[in-house]
Amino acid sequence: MKPLLFFLFLLSFLFLRPIATLSSSGGATAANDTEFIRASCYVTLYPNLCYSSLSGYADAVQQDPARLARIAISVSLSKARHIASYVSNLTREAEYRADPRASSALRDCFLNMDDAVDEICSSLKEMRRVMVPGSESFRFQMGNVQTWMSAALTDEETCTDGFDDVAEGPMKTAVCKRAVKVKKLTSNALALVNSYAEKGAN
Ligand SMILES: *[C@@H]1O[C@H](CO)[C@@H](O)[C@H](O)[C@H]1NC(C)=O
Ligand SMILES: *[C@@H]1O[C@H](CO)[C@@H](O)[C@H](O)[C@H]1NC(C)=O
Repeated sequence: MKPLLFFLFLLSFLFLRPIATLSSSGGATAANDTEFIRASCYVTLYPNLCYSSLSGYADAVQQDPARLARIAISVSLSKARHIASYVSNLTREAEYRADPRASSALRDCFLNMDDAVDEICSSLKEMRRVMVPGSESFRFQMGNVQTWMSAALTDEETCTDGFDDVAEGPMKTAVCKRAVKVKKLTSNALALVNSYAEKGAN
């Protein structure tokens, strides 16, 4: 028994020490990076979703509000693209093609999501261009991003409006659930954009 206990003690000494040391040196800034995201997310309408969707990018954000806004935009872009593809696939299913209300709602939803994808994409491109906070061009660029992200939000909203006339069912539930999620992500991205635009304006 005793040699085994000693062996375990030795093991713990050898292995746990370096691990503890590692996490106390590297961990402080990592914790700070995620804390920055949590604090920034307070300006959004859905802070919990904001944090859960963006905290994985803490290393890339590096406590930079411009990077945070840019990553939030790209997260909403990939979600919007996925939903556009999902809805486009549904428009091809025989079951929904046979139902005029469902097929019209799906087609309108796809067109709106597709517009949203273009607008979010333009926003991302603008955010990737050189930005000089405080300059006239900065206000112009951020104004563009704000306009496009607001338009994308409206288009995403219009997607679900079309389903008011469609009978309840798994397809309607599935599309609306996904549309609500992308609306929340886009709304959060817009709030982070607005917050950065305000900080960088003067
Ligand atoms: C976290 O960041 C703040 C400033 O952003 C700094 O003052 C503080 O010391 C940092 N904390 C740790 C634990 O690194
Ligand atoms: C839509 O269909 C294509 C082709 O079948 C498929 O590759 C894609 O993953 C589908 N999209 C979604 C979101 O399910």
